[in-house]
Amino acid sequence: MQFSVTTSTLDKPRVGIRAAGIAHKRKPAAGASALDAARDGEIAALLKAGEMDGEAGSRLLLPGGGSPGNQGKGSALLIGLGAKKDFDARAARKAAQALAAALVERPATSAAIAVADFQPRGKDIAWVVHTLVAAISDAAYRFTPFKGKEKTTPVKLDKIQLCVERKDAEAAKKACTEAAAIATGVNRAKDLGNTPPNVCYPESLADTAREMAKQHKKLKATVLDEKDLEKLGAGAILAVGKGSERPPRLIAMEYSGGKKGDAPVVLVGKGITFDTGGISLKPGAEMDEMKYDMCGAASVFGVIEACCELGLPINVVGVVTSAENMPDGRATRPGDIVTTLSGQTVEILNTDAEGRLVLADALTWVERYKPKAVIDIATLTGACIVALGHQGAAILGNNERLAKSLLAAGEETGDRGWQLPLWPEYQEQLKSNFADMANIGGRPAGTITAACFLSRYTEDYTWAHVDIAGVAWKSGKEKGATGRPVPMLMRYLLDQA
Ligand code: BES
Ligand code: MN
Ligand code: ZN
Repeated sequence: MQFSVTTSTLDKPRVGIRAAGIAHKRKPAAGASALDAARDGEIAALLKAGEMDGEAGSRLLLPGGGSPGNQGKGSALLIGLGAKKDFDARAARKAAQALAAALVERPATSAAIAVADFQPRGKDIAWVVHTLVAAISDAAYRFTPFKGKEKTTPVKLDKIQLCVERKDAEAAKKACTEAAAIATGVNRAKDLGNTPPNVCYPESLADTAREMAKQHKKLKATVLDEKDLEKLGAGAILAVGKGSERPPRLIAMEYSGGKKGDAPVVLVGKGITFDTGGISLKPGAEMDEMKYDMCGAASVFGVIEACCELGLPINVVGVVTSAENMPDGRATRPGDIVTTLSGQTVEILNTDAEGRLVLADALTWVERYKPKAVIDIATLTGACIVALGHQGAAILGNNERLAKSLLAAGEETGDRGWQLPLWPEYQEQLKSNFADMANIGGRPAGTITAACFLSRYTEDYTWAHVDIAGVAWKSGKEKGATGRPVPMLMRYLLDQA
């Protein structure tokens, strides 16, 4: 998908379809009135006749037309925006999604959009551009590598021109470049998440990192295999991978966009390419969805790719800690005690609490970067879905400023998070009779005690944990990876740059 910004009015670009917004019971705004002129008043007439009243969720499609001389050919799409007084960021996002859904089901390969029509109160043009690009790219996403050709209807839409006023052009162009790069990152995260677990495994993720490094000058990839992890003393990652034929990997992607020596932001992604639970085996229903247990890692790949594409002027390190959690004669047992890279010992009481184990060693390992901040991203706990459902990620950490920055980035992009407390009292739940800590903290506050576990490996730097168990994928008919929280993380990094 190609996005560009133009200062022409909506009637000018030679495209297959033009889209404008209509507020409830209002006259056409900038976009629609330009179209109206090119179509000899057809739109005003239809509105007057009550064919459309601009109610939220309504839409009207007009086939090609317009007077000769005006380049009004092609069809027109009017999207209802709802009452002007209710048109806030949420309503604008919904309108953008409705617009996107309508565009991708049309046969047109090119479209133009009147951006200002979709601008809610309190938001600038850059926000609207970001929102439109994200919505269209999201609606146009298909995952087809494993489907026969006849079984899929491809999206025809390919080129989108965003029409803005001259005064907004510069800001819109900048936002368009950013948003397109973020969309690439989101798609990368979706692709990796959706890839089946027989094709996506620790070494295949390592290959993805190597390939990305080949393509981007400022990116360097390093892969630690099981022997390296052994030498290093990463006992927790190794313990999780022990039951699998596919050995674990620790993957580092160093993106150097900033000055040499500038402390990097480090992202650490949980990359369990399949989580059976191990010997503490999960129930069978919907177990296929545990292929998404590497969506934290997928988001790290997505962010690194977006950074490369944008040439973001900061240093960012993406670390993926990857293993397959399988039951086997060699698998870790409940009751086993392992020594983590930090030297702390862990009694593994439940082999299904494996995410925190692979993260523990990675979080120790990244101390070497003397990071400005470390953010880990993980589909860590079912309890997170109980607490927040599928609306927001849980955010916890040891630094209020970092947590608040991530919350703000989530709010801005609609890729939201909600903070949970990390009060020291919760640490009690991780007591073990035999080791420095247990890997589970009992039923109460499962998302918090998982973060408490991680906090014992992050004391030496500024850290936040993002539990994406509820937001990284959708179940049911629309089953698939969402690419979250790439938008939140990218907004955070753009705000740092
Ligand atoms: N990957 C799961 C968490 C998860 C569950 C994510 C369902 C998305 C949907 C994680 O490894 C896990 O199994 N966590 C356990 C922890 C428990 C054993 C303390 C859980 O949440 O049940
Ligand atoms: Mn698990
Ligand atoms: Zn897991």
